[in-house]
Parts: sequence; structure tokens; C-alpha cells
Amino acid sequence: MAFAIEYEEFGGPEVLRYREVPAAPAGPGEVVVAVRAIGVNPIDAKVRRAFRPSGPITSPRRPGADASGVISAVGADVAGWQPGDEVIVAWGARTYASEVVVPVALLTPKPAGVSFEQAAALGIPAGTAHQALVSLDVSAGETVLVHAGAGAVGQAAVQLARRVGARVIATASEPNHARLRELGAEPVAYRAGLAERVRALAPDGVDASLDLVGTDEAIAVSKELTRDPARIGTIVLGPQAAELGIRAWSGGSPIPLTPEELGLRADAVPLVALLLAAGRFEVEIAQVLPLAEAAEAHRLSETGHVRGKLILVP
Ligand SMILES: NC(=O)c1ccc[n+]([C@@H]2O[C@H](COP(=O)([O-])OP(=O)(O)OC[C@H]3O[C@@H](n4cnc5c(N)ncnc54)[C@H](OP(=O)(O)O)[C@@H]3O)[C@@H](O)[C@H]2O)c1
Repeated sequence: MAFAIEYEEFGGPEVLRYREVPAAPAGPGEVVVAVRAIGVNPIDAKVRRAFRPSGPITSPRRPGADASGVISAVGADVAGWQPGDEVIVAWGARTYASEVVVPVALLTPKPAGVSFEQAAALGIPAGTAHQALVSLDVSAGETVLVHAGAGAVGQAAVQLARRVGARVIATASEPNHARLRELGAEPVAYRAGLAERVRALAPDGVDASLDLVGTDEAIAVSKELTRDPARIGTIVLGPQAAELGIRAWSGGSPIPLTPEELGLRADAVPLVALLLAAGRFEVEIAQVLPLAEAAEAHRLSETGHVRGKLILVP
């Protein structure tokens, strides 16, 4: 038997149930992973609340996209993966469980120096950050404004932008400024006066802006300060992006990600895992909770002010 978090109606964190569920076998091209850690992403709660369309619930719904663990069984036609292999599961589905069955395309080898908790934190945050920066063509010597730099996507975006040689100005609440400085960004407080504070650091404006929070303020300041409006992107305001005249990747956008954008998201996971193992990338873990306390993890996530990654362990 396995254990999983499931829900049968949309709603608040209280709809999440911790249950014993039958263990599923691996089909052709799939493996069974004994899960050691699960990354909690804000999308998990947005889908649970039906803030993002996901179709009617016709059978128990299990949240989750990112995880890490150890392969316990391999299905037919699987080459190159064996029981005992330590893996990252990224951009998967139904990962809030003690065991998951996943197609091998979603697996990345977990480097030995990377903890299971760190490995479970990589998929969506690092993949999204990498894709958005590449799509905005952020390059060496440029200045990029990152809204919500202290979040999971934000910390990845700050580090990846710095790696390509960009200057990063990032917004966060004051208590998170020291963390942003550690990662190489110049922090600024959001709320009233944001545009003036950014302008004090970048009098000629910025080359690109990446919105990771979706506030009116983030969009207004980006439009005011980004020299080329084609280089403003959001991952939160997908439905409004066209009207706002900015780019969007997922986040409720009616325009699906292109195969190239999906490829960039997937490609980032092995890259960042190796950087992490080499001590050249950091993942901040905010809190590790038992899988049975997924509802509490969602409550924390929905405050919008957790710094670092929330992790569940079966
Ligand atoms: N489109 C996509 O494919 C995609 C992929 C991943 C994530 N997302 C979305 O992107 C958002 C960020 O995800 P995440 O995983 O990074 O979330 P997270 O780890 O929960 O981080 C949220 C961050 O937002 C900051 N914040 C809160 N209010 C703010 C404000 N008014 N101005 C600036 N920053 C503010 C917080 O910093 P302080 O505590 O300092 O305020 C916190 O660090 C979520 O809405 C998520 O659903 C979309």
C-alpha cells in the first residue's frame, strides 16, 4: 500500500485528505519511484481552489508536480534506469504520495551531493525561471528587474540571471533583502515608491522585467521602466497579459507554451541539479512537513510570503 493526499471537491486546504491508496505498477516506459520529498508549488493550491481550470473532478484528485526519490521498480521497455537509482521527478503529476508511477521522460538523475529535499524543489521553480529569462533574452551586461525575487521562482531567476552576467534588481519585503544580496541581486522594497527606488539604481531604466507576483504595481513599474515593452513577461497574469501588452508564459494564459519553451523548462532541471551539486546554485528550504500535513503546507503557501521552498516528506 501507499499513502497519498487526495481531494474530491474544489475548495480550501481542508478538502485535502491523507489516505492509504493501492500501490500502482509501472507500465511500459514507466518507473515506480519511492518518494522521499515533494515540492509544494503555489499552482497546487490554485488548482485545488479552481483558480486555474483543470476540468471537473471525476475521481479523487492528487496534487503535485515535483518530487524526488528512489526507483523501486521499472516497467517494460525501460532502459537506463534501475531500482535503487536516486531521481528527480520534475513537471510530473500526482506527486503528493509515498509512491508515484512516472514516465521516464520526467526523470533526472539526482546528483549525490544534492539532498532529496533540494531535489524536490527544482522542477517548476528553476524550470520556469530559466525559460522566462531565456524567452526575455536576458544577457550579459543587461539589467533585469525581478518582481518577487525572494520566492522560489524568484531566487532561481536571480541566480540564473546573475550566471549569464546580468545585473539584477529584485523586489522583496525588507526582511528578505539580505537574502537577495547573498544571491547577487540589488534588493528594493515593493509598494509605494517602487518605481523611484528602482530608478535610483537604474536611472536609464531596465532592459527586461520579469513579474513573478502579478500585482498592478509590478506591471505598472515594469511598463514605466522597461525600455522595450516586448521584454516584459509575467508568469502569473496569463489571462490579462494580452490586454496589458506584455508576454506571459502559462499562469492561466490562453496561449500554450511552445515546444521550445517546454523544452527550456525541462532542460533546466539537470542543469540546475549539477550547479547545485557543484555549490554554484542554492535552494532555500523554508520548512519540511510530513505529507499528512499537506493542508498546513497549502495554508502557508497561500500566505504568499514564505521564503524558500515548502517540502513534504512521506
Ligand atoms: N506560469 C508558470 O508557469 C508559473 C510557474 C511557477 C510559478 N508560477 C506562479 O508564480 C508565482 C510565484 O511562485 P513561487 O513558487 O516563487 O512562489 P513563492 O515561493 O510562494 O514566493 C512568493 C513570493 O512573493 C513575494 N511577494 C508577496 N507579495 C509581493 C508583492 N506585493 N510584491 C513583490 N513580491 C511579493 C514574497 O516575498 P516577500 O515575503 O518578501 O513579500 C514571496 O517570496 C505564483 O503565483 C505561482 O503560482 C507560475
